[in-house]
Amino acid sequence: MKAWQRQGVGLENLRLMDLPIPEPGPKQLLVRVKAVSLNFRDKAIVDGVYLPEIMTEPFVPVSDASGEVVKVGSEVTQFKKGDRVTSHMFTKWIDGSPKKDDGANALGGPIDGGLAEYMLLNEEATVMTPSSLTDEEASTLPVAALTVWFSLVEYGKIKAGDSVLVLGTGGVSVYAVQIASALGARVIVTSSSNEKLEKVKALGAKDVINYVETPEWEKEVLEITEGKGVQHILEVVGGQSINRSIEALALQGHIYVIGFLESMMAEVNLFSLLAKQAQLHGVNVGHRRAFDDMMRAFDELNIKPVIDTVYSFNQALDAYEHLYKGAFGKVVIKVSE
Ligand SMILES: NC(=O)c1ccc[n+]([C@@H]2O[C@H](COP(=O)([O-])OP(=O)(O)OC[C@H]3O[C@@H](n4cnc5c(N)ncnc54)[C@H](OP(=O)(O)O)[C@@H]3O)[C@@H](O)[C@H]2O)c1
Repeated sequence: MKAWQRQGVGLENLRLMDLPIPEPGPKQLLVRVKAVSLNFRDKAIVDGVYLPEIMTEPFVPVSDASGEVVKVGSEVTQFKKGDRVTSHMFTKWIDGSPKKDDGANALGGPIDGGLAEYMLLNEEATVMTPSSLTDEEASTLPVAALTVWFSLVEYGKIKAGDSVLVLGTGGVSVYAVQIASALGARVIVTSSSNEKLEKVKALGAKDVINYVETPEWEKEVLEITEGKGVQHILEVVGGQSINRSIEALALQGHIYVIGFLESMMAEVNLFSLLAKQAQLHGVNVGHRRAFDDMMRAFDELNIKPVIDTVYSFNQALDAYEHLYKGAFGKVVIKVSE
């Protein structure tokens, strides 16, 4: 089979190889990969900055994949040949609390991921692809959408009528707009681009703020919410943005600490944090049970993933370059027909 392998740090060390098709173990599925999508994590893995101590060359990159089961192991009970399936990144985090070694058992580094014509999935770390979604659409869900779902639904217990602040319009944030709106929340979005703000309005956002024109966007959020602040904030920016988020938060509201686009470090105003009685959640994607729930919800709520561009398998490096430049929604690679 054709497979891309990370053979070292840097895009120049991502190489297209001929590899043997793997054999499924007793509880594994052999999947013909149809499509994968890229996340910020995939870029960080190629750059060698994401958990470098656990990555050992060579491995097939990319955690998010959808495809069709072509062979099942002797003890597989939940899937059969021909099923349309999607991968779950933390292959050992199935339900309940996370474990210390979840990172070491993640697809797309250090475990072989989906940027290959075939991949192995553990039965317990696989979900059925909803009938309402194409393989390309489903491949965008495992990290970006589940992170949002896990934040708002599992941690935040979001209710219709709650207010949600979404920062920027990257892959995670676009899903935050779609999922929160579909669950009946009032969504406010910030972006550097007025054009993208128009696009998120079409996806359900009620209020929008250009964070370049309005750098003190937290004041605008308070004005929009008549001084109450918002109940849920998806903090993908990191760094000093956390202090603006605390200001924009309602009393006892939730901040989901998800990203570090600006910085991994922050000096936090602890007095503001305690005065707000804020609930701070560190989020690391989610477990498979929540992924199953989310898949059913996507069918019911009719949420259609937003795909920026679909690249061919041979253009995988161009897809990575696109991710480096930024996208509206997800960057997808079509692996096979
Ligand atoms: N914890 C987890 O489980 C988890 C899961 C997935 C992702 N993440 C992290 O979440 C972050 C976002 O991931 P992603 O895939 O959505 O990234 P992405 O698609 O690359 O997001 C890029 C967008 O972020 C926005 N942005 C950048 N700087 C900003 C700022 N100062 N203020 C507001 N928005 C800003 C921009 O939006 P505009 O163009 O609209 O300005 C930009 O287009 C990354 O740090 C990623 O590692 C974490």
